[in-house]
Amino acid sequence: MPSPSPVAIAVDAAVRPAGVRPLRIGPVLVDPPVLQAPMAGFTNYAFRQIVRQLGGVGLPATEMISARGFLHMEARDHELPDRLWGVRDEPRPLAAQIWDNDPENLAAVGARLAREFQVSVVDINFGCPVRDICERAKSGSYLLRDPDRVGRLVARVVEACRPTPVTAKIRLGCTRDTINAIDVAQAVEDAGGAAVTVHGRTAKDLFRGSADWDAIAQIKPRLRHMPLVGNGDLRTADQVAEAFRRYGVDGVMIGRGALSRPWLFRQAQAALAGQPVPPDPTLDQQRELLLEHYRKIVERFGVERGTVLMRRYACCYAHGQPGARLFRMAISTVTTEDEFRSVVAEHFPRATMRSHPNAPEAC
Ligand SMILES: Cc1cc2nc3c(=O)[nH]c(=O)nc-3n(C[C@H](O)[C@H](O)[C@H](O)COP(=O)(O)O)c2cc1C
Repeated sequence: MPSPSPVAIAVDAAVRPAGVRPLRIGPVLVDPPVLQAPMAGFTNYAFRQIVRQLGGVGLPATEMISARGFLHMEARDHELPDRLWGVRDEPRPLAAQIWDNDPENLAAVGARLAREFQVSVVDINFGCPVRDICERAKSGSYLLRDPDRVGRLVARVVEACRPTPVTAKIRLGCTRDTINAIDVAQAVEDAGGAAVTVHGRTAKDLFRGSADWDAIAQIKPRLRHMPLVGNGDLRTADQVAEAFRRYGVDGVMIGRGALSRPWLFRQAQAALAGQPVPPDPTLDQQRELLLEHYRKIVERFGVERGTVLMRRYACCYAHGQPGARLFRMAISTVTTEDEFRSVVAEHFPRATMRSHPNAPEAC
């Protein structure tokens, strides 16, 4: 179990969102029904530990794992992908996300994750718009153009993972002219999928514009019983509560909002329960949290790689804070632990500095 965080907020097991029911993904209870989005390069074990400590997350998820990469690495090097770091030891529930376009690769890796790693949920990525995944590997959101194929892939993984539930994460479609999320979601349901998460943008949108929650809401009445999880642009506890109220989703998933404010889950949980939303941690507490995150990353990756890796998280923590620009400029070149700590001590945003909310896209 992770050590207590300096800014840990106790999770009150009795807290139960009024009017918002816990989500059931097969046999897995997701309570509150607020999921952490898989984010490649960010949602590794260190980040998930931080999120769990702060509380309020119903279902954390790994970064997406290449099924083909998993099988090749194991056969060639007798090693497993870095992205499985912590997965065996971590508390449950936990979802692991995989991607590929080959049913047998997906089935083989899904089954391993379900049986050997005992993950709670196996999620398949049908939403990634990145060129290497889509155009070169013909996976991720490339597959959205063919709902039947999505259905066949899901059915094969469901069969291989049973009784572990299998879910799918999709976008609205490939382009604005070819929105077909209803067809894809129905194909997932017909194939035995236990839930579908819909990011309210098309693949072509990447992260431009805003997520179309009306389009997400239109999917709900077209499903028989499979839960619908909405995703996109949720940055505050009020927005989370509003998503349930206005769009009738069964669950929500939070991505970038939690990179800069990992305590957002705890705040959303309170909002859903009709309780006062806890304030953001003070800037001193945020600094402590950042340093704790750094310790976890360095423990795993060593100082050299860990320091470089931590730069991107540090930028996220500072996002939208006073003095963020100065901090980002300074932290983005650090290479040693001393440099990292002294930049944090000197430049981590202070209430007296001017705000500059330009942040990397991930945040
Ligand atoms: C840096 C980054 C990495 C991402 N990696 C993944 C991934 O591995 N799998 C996935 O399904 N989605 C991935 N996404 C998409 C998010 O899961 C989520 O759908 C998207 O960010 C929209 O939600 P948000 O507005 O709450 O961030 C990624 C997004 C970002 C910004």
